[in-house]
Amino acid sequence: MNESLFTDFPQLETERLILREVTEEDTAMVYQFNADLEALRYVPRAPYTKNEQAVEKIQGFQKGFRDKKGIWWTYVLKETGHSLGYGGLFNIEAEGTKAEIGYGILKEHWGRGYVGEAVKEMSRFGFEDLQLHRIFGLVDPANTPSARILEKLGYEKEGLLRHDEYARGQYFDMTVWGRVVKS
Ligand SMILES: CC(C)(COP(=O)(O)OP(=O)(O)OC[C@H]1O[C@@H](n2cnc3c(N)ncnc32)[C@H](O)[C@@H]1OP(=O)(O)O)[C@@H](O)C(=O)NCCC(=O)NCCS
Repeated sequence: MNESLFTDFPQLETERLILREVTEEDTAMVYQFNADLEALRYVPRAPYTKNEQAVEKIQGFQKGFRDKKGIWWTYVLKETGHSLGYGGLFNIEAEGTKAEIGYGILKEHWGRGYVGEAVKEMSRFGFEDLQLHRIFGLVDPANTPSARILEKLGYEKEGLLRHDEYARGQYFDMTVWGRVVKS
């Protein structure tokens, strides 16, 4: 893994988005996303009820970066300067060979390809700049848009983790979608 990338936060850019560090200024967006049961439909997490939970989440992201275990970006729409959502590479292993990918945006912005654009650049960064060997995502089997994003970027469906997570009084199955550097 290219550890030098953890010195200054690596800001990224796509055609319509700036991907910058998630900071305290994103607290309202992080809260809004995590308090919305519709957005969390396929995310095994209890909805947030307090702003402090968003503050703690962001502090966790920042600690993850200091510990070289995670990089979380806010997706800022260039046209308006507004934060639409966030995503990251996390659970980065000490040897730097693999990481997990996660993402989401506020529901008023769904269906416009923003996340596909962001995940493409996050994946490029992970493989080319961080020099990871494997990136994987855990996706609820019913989350068709999320699976579609990964499939279009060359991730392959590897298997099903049954009752992998428990939240909101129910178990969630998770499909593993993985992409590896082909030798
Ligand atoms: C899942 C999510 C990230 C998708 O983001 P998005 O920006 O709306 O996705 P896109 O607009 O790039 O659409 C992705 C693909 O899914 C397709 N799609 C969208 N809704 C769909 C549906 N209900 N059924 C089937 N396909 C659908 C789109 O057509 C697109 O495919 P295409 O490029 O072949 O046309 C977004 O809905 C979200 O934030 N959801 C809540 C959090 C979440 O579930 N995160 C993922 C956890 S694994």
